Amino acid sequence: MCGIIGYVGEENAVPIIIEGLKKLEYRGYDSAGIAVCVEDGFGVVKQKGRLAALEERLKDQPLKSRMGIGHTRWATHGEPSDENSHPHLGSRNKIAVVHNGIIENYKDIKERLVPKGIEFSSKTDSEAIAQLAEYYAQKYRGDDLLDTVIRVTRALEGSFALGIMCADDPDTLIAVKKDNPLIIGVCEHGQFIASDVPAVLKYTNKVYYLSDNEIAALTKDGVRFFNMDKEPVQKTLETVTWSVDSAEKGGYEHFMLKEIMEQPRVLRDTVQSIKGDNKEPIESIDVTSIDKLVITACGSAYNAGVVARYVFERICRISVEVELASEFRYKDAVVDEKTLVILISQSGETADTIAAMREAKAKGAKTLAIVNVVGSTIAKESDSCLFTAAGPEIAVATTKAFSAQLVLLYILAVRFAAKLSRISRESEQELLAEIAALPDKAAQVLKNVDSIQKYASTCVGYKNIFFIGRNIDYAIALEGSLKLKEISYVHSEAYAGGELKHGAIALVEENTLVVAISGCGRLRGKIMSNIEQVASRGAKVLMIGSCQDVHPDGIISCIGLPEVPELLSPSLSVIVMQLLSYYVAANKGLDIDKPRNLAKSVTVE
Ligand code: F6R
Repeated sequence: MCGIIGYVGEENAVPIIIEGLKKLEYRGYDSAGIAVCVEDGFGVVKQKGRLAALEERLKDQPLKSRMGIGHTRWATHGEPSDENSHPHLGSRNKIAVVHNGIIENYKDIKERLVPKGIEFSSKTDSEAIAQLAEYYAQKYRGDDLLDTVIRVTRALEGSFALGIMCADDPDTLIAVKKDNPLIIGVCEHGQFIASDVPAVLKYTNKVYYLSDNEIAALTKDGVRFFNMDKEPVQKTLETVTWSVDSAEKGGYEHFMLKEIMEQPRVLRDTVQSIKGDNKEPIESIDVTSIDKLVITACGSAYNAGVVARYVFERICRISVEVELASEFRYKDAVVDEKTLVILISQSGETADTIAAMREAKAKGAKTLAIVNVVGSTIAKESDSCLFTAAGPEIAVATTKAFSAQLVLLYILAVRFAAKLSRISRESEQELLAEIAALPDKAAQVLKNVDSIQKYASTCVGYKNIFFIGRNIDYAIALEGSLKLKEISYVHSEAYAGGELKHGAIALVEENTLVVAISGCGRLRGKIMSNIEQVASRGAKVLMIGSCQDVHPDGIISCIGLPEVPELLSPSLSVIVMQLLSYYVAANKGLDIDKPRNLAKSVTVE
């Protein structure tokens, strides 16, 4: 949430910062801004709205400098407006700050500074950082910029990733973080700070991952790291394996469509990863010492956990709880050293999932993370971590990372079942072979893109669309429904088919649209009865799954899936639902990659 970028080096910082902000816009897009060091202080341009609006403003107010910081905002404190946009400056224009996170004690800071004659010009929490830095710089005149930043960060409560410049030290860019991500990129012509790797990939794949309470001091000649006692810290320069192309649209109209289409490759790479780096974390877990699995995550990652529960319970015969991370962290969860807590997160930076992980660890539980972003907080802090080989996911609505999470969860379940002797060696091999066949089957589903587009066109005009399924089909219906509502703004709910008659069927009337998922052959008769029940009340039904013997009135279309074991079927039905949502949103002409009010990587609570 909120993207920050900074550059210091030999090139003009402005196009580099704008380019970086384009790659970070998925983190927030209420407003954007840039500040650069110029001869007499800072040149600043800030603009409410999308980054494109800032670019327009920059045509009238061009900036040029070899050092600068930029920000793309997802508003928390203060409505989206020019004034509330970052960078924020102190009232004497000596300090400029970009911030991602929430400063919980900003009111206290403001109350301390206002009586001293310091005037605030925005309603944000972030401005307090710039004002406090400027106040300290004036009060403690012997301090250098590093001392000032240490003083400020010690006074802050909450979470922050900061880029800070000082007009009196126009060669140094400072970065510091606590509970929000920040990477430092280095290349031949300069150094970068950024919220995420794609922002710098065009220039470098060499990065440092900043840890909490570490400070980076960047100049055009290099970067040095310090702890809060101003002692030097040695850090390892890491090489990112993501390619430049992976963060580009590659000819597709939207990142979301590109990322949906990439899924066969992502599934293949994720399956392959089990033979390499992902093998050890799985094999090192002694599942025989575990009496309960708890899966915790947010949003789609939570839905992947709901699917996984059916798989683990069925083949491992182990008790599984799935908890929203935002609930887990406050419920005083019953977990101990005999519990394995599985955390699922694309970004590895979701605030609630991080808090859930810390809570689980504090209670003695073992933690295993499934994460897409190397170097992220969850990847670093969990006891062990499996990486999804999805590459950078730019569209706000997750698709390929979700599918990669499912595949890792399947493999984990199969290995656990084998270790627990719940399945034979033969069944294990059969299941692993079926998982390895998923990439080709996903490719077959994607060949149906034209029929799915046509199928989506039947959804036009509906205000409500319901998704129904039984067992694992219900689990994946949750994801289909979330996908649809978040990008198309069509209200949608997912119901377990058997539960309809306990209340939700009251919503079904003439021309209600219902998407029924039938990947679960065992319960096909049951879902067909549910279809009959809604169709007889006037609903129109779209089906996903086996299209054989589809007779009930009301079924207007059916998208078939390749043969696949029931427990793996969500990997195929979800692709149909992703495309369905995509085309419903495309038909409405919506901004698919940046849905309203949302941002990827929810780093605030
Ligand atoms: C929905 C979506 C979100 C995320 C959720 C968790 O399409 O992308 O619901 O799944 O915010 O994010 P991560 O996986 O980064 O923890």
